[in-house]
Amino acid sequence: MERAMACVPILVFCFLSLQNRVTATAIDIINTTQFIRDGDTIVSANGTYELGFLSPGKSKNRYLGIWYGKIPVQTVVWVANREAPLNDSLGALKITNKGILTLLDRSGSVIWSSSTSRPARNPAAQLLESGNLVVKEEGDNNLENSLWQSFEHPTDTILPGMKLGRSRVTGMEWSMTSWKSPDDPSKGNITCKLAPYGYPEIIVMDGSEVMYRSGLWDGLRFSGVPNIKPNPIYKYEFVYNEKEIFYRERLVDKSMYWRFMTSQDGDVPSFAWIEKKKKWLLYETANTDNCDRYALCGANGFCNIQSSPVCACLNGFVPKSQADWDLTDWSNGCVRKTPLNCSGDGFRKLAGVKMPETKSTWFSNTMNLRECKNKCLENCSCTAYSNLDIRNGGSGCLLWFGDLIDIRVFSENEQEIYIRMAGSELAPPAGQIANSLQRSANQMHKEDLELPMFDLGTMACATNNFSVENKLGEGGFGSVYKAWRLLKEKRPLELATESLLITCNLSEVLRSIHVGLLCVQENPEDRPNMSDVDLMLRDDNTLPQPKQPGFFTERDLNEASYSSNLSKPYSVNECSISELIPR
Ligand SMILES: *[C@@H]1O[C@H](CO)[C@@H](O)[C@H](O)[C@H]1NC(C)=O
Ligand SMILES: *[C@@H]1O[C@H](CO)[C@@H](O)[C@H](O)[C@H]1NC(C)=O
Ligand SMILES: *[C@@H]1O[C@H](CO)[C@@H](O)[C@H](O)[C@H]1NC(C)=O
Ligand SMILES: *[C@@H]1O[C@H](CO)[C@@H](O)[C@H](O)[C@H]1NC(C)=O
Ligand SMILES: *[C@@H]1O[C@H](CO)[C@@H](O)[C@H](O)[C@H]1NC(C)=O
Ligand SMILES: *[C@@H]1O[C@H](CO)[C@@H](O)[C@H](O)[C@H]1NC(C)=O
Ligand SMILES: *[C@@H]1O[C@H](CO)[C@@H](O)[C@H](O)[C@H]1NC(C)=O
Ligand SMILES: *[C@@H]1O[C@H](CO)[C@@H](O)[C@H](O)[C@H]1NC(C)=O
Ligand SMILES: *[C@@H]1O[C@H](CO)[C@@H](O)[C@H](O)[C@H]1NC(C)=O
Ligand SMILES: *[C@@H]1O[C@H](CO)[C@@H](O)[C@H](O)[C@H]1NC(C)=O
Repeated sequence: MERAMACVPILVFCFLSLQNRVTATAIDIINTTQFIRDGDTIVSANGTYELGFLSPGKSKNRYLGIWYGKIPVQTVVWVANREAPLNDSLGALKITNKGILTLLDRSGSVIWSSSTSRPARNPAAQLLESGNLVVKEEGDNNLENSLWQSFEHPTDTILPGMKLGRSRVTGMEWSMTSWKSPDDPSKGNITCKLAPYGYPEIIVMDGSEVMYRSGLWDGLRFSGVPNIKPNPIYKYEFVYNEKEIFYRERLVDKSMYWRFMTSQDGDVPSFAWIEKKKKWLLYETANTDNCDRYALCGANGFCNIQSSPVCACLNGFVPKSQADWDLTDWSNGCVRKTPLNCSGDGFRKLAGVKMPETKSTWFSNTMNLRECKNKCLENCSCTAYSNLDIRNGGSGCLLWFGDLIDIRVFSENEQEIYIRMAGSELAPPAGQIANSLQRSANQMHKEDLELPMFDLGTMACATNNFSVENKLGEGGFGSVYKAWRLLKEKRPLELATESLLITCNLSEVLRSIHVGLLCVQENPEDRPNMSDVDLMLRDDNTLPQPKQPGFFTERDLNEASYSSNLSKPYSVNECSISELIPR
């Protein structure tokens, strides 16, 4: 058909010139007898969107596109012929009998055309109030039956109702590619799309390099996007089924103007139109800070924007190249202190972080966490596991293989990841303190075995309901010992950046440690019960001074001259925990 058209260009163009131009009265639909020529537009029912020819910025080229019809700032949300500009204003759009949109230049050559899923009988193209240009059978308003939709072919902008993702049936990708410049809508270097690998996550790429990851969807949110959370402006969903995988937003107030886009500088900003100011408000962006830079801290490192430097190695890992690391080149990342040995390995829990890249992952929707752990243990190259979905107590299983990449502290994220560690990294270090800890644990009454503990590898900010017996093997007291050792060695900063502590607010951590000390007081009568502990961790009241724990001497406590007013937020700089020196 394209060839036929090309053969009779002049004829076609004459035909276009004479017949059925869309007229001045705004319509939102054309059929096969009508054309949209440069200067004509069609307008959606309530005037929100308009389709016609435009020249962006300083460009003299003409493009067929869609923009907001009622706002004074020309804001283009979709471009048809982004790679094939018209160089004059003699282009025209028509819809063929088969239901294909074709953009013709002055000679009648097709410079752009849409596709169709099936042949049409009586096709029409309509611009909907959502901003979606739809090819359909005239009179059939069911979107499901449409032959083609501009919403399935985003340029650089996603409007409410559009999908960012992929069809698993056709393989069609719903992704964004930045404009080359404000004057040139042709494809720039930046794309935002569903990662083509592993468990789905959204990525932003510059050419073939990943710049940013959203982190995987945990059932409630992307594990690395602080902004997308319940809000009064828009509802959002992430759908993953046999047919498709996508992220989509919908406005609460449908009369609002809302869009997000992929910008030339590699960001994904969302904008809301403020009618009063006649301006777009930058509502939020995907890249919020330096820690959002993909893999900034290298393999097995993690980024904490509150620390300086921002990069540190995961607990149990050390810089691969200490010299580079010290010069703030973190790209080589971290390696294990103790290599995995496959048979005697265990796991260390990490929470409050953006989950690592899912490039090398395996998953199951049906496994529970215990099965997941066993599955991971079965394969020596499995390095971590987690639930897929954190709702309803957690379900599903995700396994990581190889290095863990692009972790950052994101304390709001509730997903937990279990990182494989050599057994010896998890066992309590041999030595007197650990031994006395063990002894004091053994002395405790049965009901006291449920302790709120400050386990670096587990979680310092919450009341942990774990039994000493179970946890001893997995590093509960080992980590406590480690915390104390760091304090003892006057390395509170390292303590603060160590694995989980950094995900917490230091004042809360100190409070947890304080509560922990109350829980290991020598006399069981003095120890708070579970409900006391819960209260202590929740409120800000002054805590009682802990009495001597089973494993410290009188002198230690006297040295521990820290204030019991722990509701005061501590900054790392005024880290008075350095005063808290165990022996
Ligand atoms: C196309 O639309 C015009 C204007 O609404 C109408 O007069 C004409 O009958 C339509 N043609 C077809 C084939 O539906
Ligand atoms: C157009 O606007 C009217 C009045 O605001 C509203 O009732 C109607 O639903 C809108 N139509 C569409 C298609 O949005
Ligand atoms: C415009 O493009 C046509 C081909 O589509 C070409 O033949 C023509 O020379 C161009 N005109 C200018 C002014 O560049
Ligand atoms: C896009 O990438 C190419 C090749 O890497 C580079 O030459 C060009 O400057 C980049 N363009 C922009 C706008 O960054
Ligand atoms: C692996 O760990 C087990 C148990 O900790 C130990 O018995 C074994 O010697 C270790 N093997 C190697 C190769 O390190
Ligand atoms: C372990 O997992 C890796 C990555 O999925 C796979 O290539 C390998 O075959 C697995 N090994 C075994 C023993 O299952
Ligand atoms: C604590 O653990 C016990 C035994 O595992 C369990 O019965 C209880 O429900 C748990 N309590 C909380 C608050 O999780
Ligand atoms: C730290 O926690 C305390 C007590 O929960 C709270 O008052 C304070 O605002 C928190 N500080 C930060 C920086 O989150
Ligand atoms: C916990 O101890 C407090 C007093 O310290 C007491 O009032 C409370 O009833 C106890 N709660 C339970 C569940 O034993
Ligand atoms: C605790 O610290 C806060 C903030 O510095 C202060 O306002 C308050 O008076 C202190 N309370 C006690 C009991 O020292």
